[in-house]
Amino acid sequence: MIREPFLVPCAEPVAKLPPYVFATTFKWKEEALAAGRDVVDLGVGNPDGRPDPAVVAELVRAARDPAANCHGYSTFKGHPTLRRAIAAFYARRFGVDLDPETETLPLIGSKEGLANLMRAYLERGDTLILPTPCYPAYFGAARLCGAEIFEAPLRPEHGFVLRFADIPADVARQAKMLVVNYPNNPTGGVADLDFYREAVAWCREHRVLLVSDIAYSELGFDPDTPPPSVLQVPGAAAVAVEFQSLSKSHNMAGWRTGFAAGGAEPIATLGRVKSMVDFSLFGAVQLAAAAALTGDQQVCADNRALYRRRRDLMVAGYRALGWDVPSPPATMYIWAPVPRAWAGDDFAFVREVFERTGVLLSPGSAFGRHGAGWCRTSLVADDAGIAKVLRKLADAGLDWTA
Ligand SMILES: Cc1ncc(COP(=O)(O)O)c(C=O)c1O
Repeated sequence: MIREPFLVPCAEPVAKLPPYVFATTFKWKEEALAAGRDVVDLGVGNPDGRPDPAVVAELVRAARDPAANCHGYSTFKGHPTLRRAIAAFYARRFGVDLDPETETLPLIGSKEGLANLMRAYLERGDTLILPTPCYPAYFGAARLCGAEIFEAPLRPEHGFVLRFADIPADVARQAKMLVVNYPNNPTGGVADLDFYREAVAWCREHRVLLVSDIAYSELGFDPDTPPPSVLQVPGAAAVAVEFQSLSKSHNMAGWRTGFAAGGAEPIATLGRVKSMVDFSLFGAVQLAAAAALTGDQQVCADNRALYRRRRDLMVAGYRALGWDVPSPPATMYIWAPVPRAWAGDDFAFVREVFERTGVLLSPGSAFGRHGAGWCRTSLVADDAGIAKVLRKLADAGLDWTA
């Protein structure tokens, strides 16, 4: 093939996309691996655990069983068994009653659903309120719609829970959508039902679509207060849509399984967009996801115990170095201000730690402007891996003072 520059430009919103936030750190990692260095990647939140064996067994059974009829196209709305399982999960976990037919929608991962919901509701110039630091994919999906993004600060002194007073009146007047994510990636912050009550009231008042992302709802460490759903709030369905994922809670990130839940209208609208771009999930994955949601949820309990133990090991280790990091109440992340010696330059800190030790963290700026000066550690190394990381960091000769 003769290689020459491509003659046709891509669409403007795509051309204007900034480079993927983790592209730089991925490049460091690739170069280090190519040079034969030992790398420990604590940058990406890729679970290292396995799904429930019963879920894998259901995948295999459904793929083998002619009666399951999985190998043709699925229906756009997803398999009825999975929709019923989603409704059963919401009833059991949150006491929320959903009509499986009209108020649930299987997704090819919640990332897909979040992007398609933005496509369904955001036009060029519409304002999206993103409390940040946040999951970076929200930025790209909104930019592809040509939306304007207002970043509201999540502050440590408020447990990283959004304060509505931090949204200026003119932004509130213009806004079309607000995305909230609790338990929060990257901060580990948790919101209670009072927060969702306020969010629903605020969004009803301002006619703003409230998107609740609860990808980490099963990874809260306090057994007495499991993280709630926005749909527990009476009147939420008039403004809110919720997104859930099996990636982290059920160790199924590679399976691409998530779902949306909420009022019939936004669910149908999201379904309409999806019907133009995909054909739902592989049927056997849907039946296995249904098994995951209706099973004993032991894998979620095991994950809570696992990440809690890793959090404790990591926090204790960091503190022993002299880096006084906070201990998060949920998720698989530690979110901490970079030590004083780097004067708030999170990229410089992450780079130097990586160069000296091969341990890769995530720079906080990747999570939005209010993430600057912080960094994220993913708890994806096992106990031996954590011990190794802490040894490498201790030997690095760095000043960890906060
Ligand atoms: C807050 C948040 N929402 C959604 C997702 C995407 O999950 P999924 O694998 O279901 O697309 C992630 C993944 O890291 C996340 O952190």
